[in-house]
Amino acid sequence: MKEIKIALLGFGTVGQGVYELLQKNKRHLGEKLGLEFNIKKILVRDKAKKRESQAPDELLTTDFKEILEDKEISIICELMGGVEPAKTYILSALDKGKLVVTANKAVLAEAGAEIFELAEKKRIFLGFEASVGGGIPVIKTLREALIGNQIERVTGIINGTTNYILTRMLEQNLSFEKALEEAQNKGYAEADPSLDLRGIDSAHKISILASLAFGFYIPYNKVYVEGLDEVDLMDLQFSRDFGYIVKLIAEARKIKNQIEIRVHPALLPENHILTSVRFNYNAILIRGDFVGDILLYGLGAGKEPTASAVVGDIVSSAEYLFAKNHPLIPYPKREEKESFIRPIEEGVFKYYFR
Ligand code: NDP
Ligand code: HSE
Repeated sequence: MKEIKIALLGFGTVGQGVYELLQKNKRHLGEKLGLEFNIKKILVRDKAKKRESQAPDELLTTDFKEILEDKEISIICELMGGVEPAKTYILSALDKGKLVVTANKAVLAEAGAEIFELAEKKRIFLGFEASVGGGIPVIKTLREALIGNQIERVTGIINGTTNYILTRMLEQNLSFEKALEEAQNKGYAEADPSLDLRGIDSAHKISILASLAFGFYIPYNKVYVEGLDEVDLMDLQFSRDFGYIVKLIAEARKIKNQIEIRVHPALLPENHILTSVRFNYNAILIRGDFVGDILLYGLGAGKEPTASAVVGDIVSSAEYLFAKNHPLIPYPKREEKESFIRPIEEGVFKYYFR
């Protein structure tokens, strides 16, 4: 059996999920693919930290160079979060010819132009399935399955933390603070949960989906964002009394030759398909000119579903490693197309959905 050596950058919720999956399903993957995936090194900040999953001490390191210079390691999975040092590590790994898998939407939404450019230049595999929608294969769907379509709109609930909070508040009368605490304990929230609550995480994700859908890199600062800051339990209850459910919606759509891209709380009619998306589930509606409407649904945050997406990308990397097939489908390109982004006036979308 061929062996593939991997390094994980980060051993928190997602890193531990990937470690557990590769251990538990080692035989299953071996039988299916004839490959053995072994984690050789794990980068952390604090080697002594108590973790749910303990890895052997000799795997843990605080020195990224040790991983970068290790010729046996061919795949690097960035599962740390944040823009720096994640960006520098991803760029140095690609530069060294290592295959990179990342779950980090912040780094792609803020520094993706540079990262995609280098991956393209090096003609190397960069997997980012876990960056949007947790275990839902939305990146592959947009990049591959729907490639023949001109995408008209992408609409979704793409933040598990806020969706969990809204569900727990409305259905169990939980306070906002208690619901947030639960989401954090379950590992759904970002290290800085204000990214979830202010809609920034959804903005990061919709900018990635929009870049794939519309063919050029759209940084997240082009997204109009309103978070949950002004939503309270009474809003949720009164809305329900009038037949509406409040959800944090992210949408990118083409209007004539412009793209409107936004994140905001919205009132959805009770019978809307997205109102059945509860807790840490996510759903993404995509409309293509030939496929029509499709709906992707699944667990959008948490250790196991995210690990599932990361391991899917690890296997795709291995395919690249052995077949040496350069990725045919280009990554989103940096283009000065600001005029294509439709400006949105502050406040106009509050609770509005069409
Ligand atoms: P955690 O905060 O649980 O874990 C982060 C890990 O990265 C920790 O092990 C930490 O080390 C390590 N780390 C952070 N900064 C550094 C650094 N500068 N040098 C070395 N190690 C570092 O995060 P998650 O696992 O929840 O998230 C990881 C990534 O996956 C993020 O980009 C997140 O947005 C994304 N993601 C998360 C999902 C989820 O449900 N949690 C779902 C989909 C994507 P130490 O343990 O020593 O502190
Ligand atoms: N904090 C993110 C969420 C993790 O709650 O959706 C998954 O990307």
